[in-house]
Amino acid sequence: METKQFQTALPEQALQCAQVRALIEERGGLRAYVHTYGCQQNVSDSERLQGLLLEMGYSLAGAPEDADLILYNTCAIREHAENRVFGNVGALKAIKARRPGMKIGLCGCMMQQEHAVQRILEKYPFVDLIFGTHVLHRLPEFLYRLLTGEKRVVETGTEDTAIHEGLPVHRDGRIKAWLPVMYGCDNFCTYCVVPYVRGRERSRAPEAVEREARALVQAGYREITLLGQNVNSYGKGFSEPCGFPALLRRLDALEGEFWLRFMTSHPKDATRELIDTMAAGRHIARQLHLPVQSGSDRVLAAMNRRYTAERYLSLVRYAREAMPSLTLSTDIIVGFPGETEEEFRETLALVKEAQYDSMFAFLYSPRPGTPAEKMENQVPHEVKTRRFAELMQLQEEIAKAKNRRLQGQRLRVLPDGVQPHQPGFLTARTEGNIFVNLAASPDRIGRFTEVEITSAHAWMLKAKPVEPGA
Ligand code: 5AD
Ligand code: SF4
Repeated sequence: METKQFQTALPEQALQCAQVRALIEERGGLRAYVHTYGCQQNVSDSERLQGLLLEMGYSLAGAPEDADLILYNTCAIREHAENRVFGNVGALKAIKARRPGMKIGLCGCMMQQEHAVQRILEKYPFVDLIFGTHVLHRLPEFLYRLLTGEKRVVETGTEDTAIHEGLPVHRDGRIKAWLPVMYGCDNFCTYCVVPYVRGRERSRAPEAVEREARALVQAGYREITLLGQNVNSYGKGFSEPCGFPALLRRLDALEGEFWLRFMTSHPKDATRELIDTMAAGRHIARQLHLPVQSGSDRVLAAMNRRYTAERYLSLVRYAREAMPSLTLSTDIIVGFPGETEEEFRETLALVKEAQYDSMFAFLYSPRPGTPAEKMENQVPHEVKTRRFAELMQLQEEIAKAKNRRLQGQRLRVLPDGVQPHQPGFLTARTEGNIFVNLAASPDRIGRFTEVEITSAHAWMLKAKPVEPGA
C-alpha cells in the first residue's frame, strides 16, 4: 500500500501533478476509481496509475458511483474481453448523468486498437479521456487538460517507447507484489494482439529491477512475481549482457524471506539454464507457467510459435527431473483456424504427457489486424466449445489425481487473506501457487506457515497448520 515520491526523469509530469493537486484542493478534494481488466501486466500498470492519482491529490473511491474520475484499464486479448469493456462503459452513462462534472477515462490495450477507439469516439460521447499503453506516465498532463476545460483528450500514439522509471506506485496488496521487468513483445504469434497494442520488447535495467525488489522485501512483501510478456528474452539489446537467468540469480541473492515467481515464459526461449537456476535458487518458487498453446506441430507452426511438441516436452522432462516438486501450468487455445479433430487429439495427448497442475484454456478468438484472423477454415463455435469441454474434463481428472497425492503431506504455504464467506478460514498458496483453504486465524496472514493437507480437490486444497516439530 505504499506510494513513492514522484522522483523522476519526467519534470513536466511532476509539474502537472502539482498543478492538478492545486485544482483538486480548490474543489475541496476529488475521488478516483480505477478498474482493471486483463492480465497482471495491466494490474501492474493500474498500480502505477493509482500511484500517480494519489500523487495528484485524488483519494481512491471504493465504487464507481462515489467517484469524480473513473478509469477503466482495458484488455484486448479476446473479443469477449472487449465486449465486457464496451458493456461496462455503456453502463457508466447513467452514473455520469447523476454526477455532473464526473470524468470517464479509458486506457490500456484496447485503446491501442483503432476499431475500438473509433467505436468509443462515435458511440460513447460521454467518455472524456482515451489514452494508450505507451503514454501512461502522462496521466497528470491529461487530467490537467480535462480539469482546465478541454472537452475530450485522446492520446493513442506509439512514438514513446521509453521506459519511464520512478513513477509512484500504489500496490493493492501488502504481501504479494507484481514487478514488471520488461514491456512489449516481439514474437508475433499469429493469433495475438499483444505486439500491436504493447509495442516492441524493451527491458528494465537490472539495477532498477533489483532496487525495486529489495525495497519490496524490506517493506515486508513475501512474494514477488516478475512480469513480462516473454520474460525469457529479458535483456535483449543491453550493452552489458544480462539474460533472464542472470537476473533471477541476482534477485535470488537478496536477503529476506520471500518467494520469487515469474511469468510468462515462452517455450522457444526457456532454456536449461533457466531450469538449473530455478532448481538451485533459494527464493525461486519451483513453479513454471509455460504456455504450449497446442500439441500439434502443424498448428504450432501456423501460430508462429517456433518450437515443436517434442521440443516442448523434452524441456518439461528436463524440468521435472531437475525439480521433482515442480508445479507446471500452461495456456492452450482450442479451435485455432484449420485445427482438425486429429490435431486437437494431439493437444490432448500432450496434456496427458505433460501432466499439468493447472491450465488456462481459451476458445480461439479472431483479433483484428492479426494474421490468423484472415486465415481460412475458421473453426465453428460449436466445435470449439465441444473441444474446450473435452480438454477441461481431461485437465480436471489430471489435477484431481495430482492434488490427491498431496493429501496428508506437509507443505509450506503463504496465507494472503481471509476467506470472504467462511469465518475461521484463510486463503493461502503453496510454493507451486496451488490455492489452499486454510483453517487458521488471521494473524497468520503474511507469515509462511507449515501445514498439513487435509483434503484435495481439482482446483484447491484444504489444510490446517502443523506446529514445527509436531
Ligand atoms: N484467442 C484466444 N486466446 C488467445 N490468447 C492470446 N490470444 C488469443 C486469441 N486471439 C491466449 C493465449 C495466451 C493467453 C494469455 O491468452 O493462450 O497465452
Ligand atoms: Fe494483458 Fe494482453 Fe490483455 Fe493487454 S491485451 S491486458 S497485455 S492480456
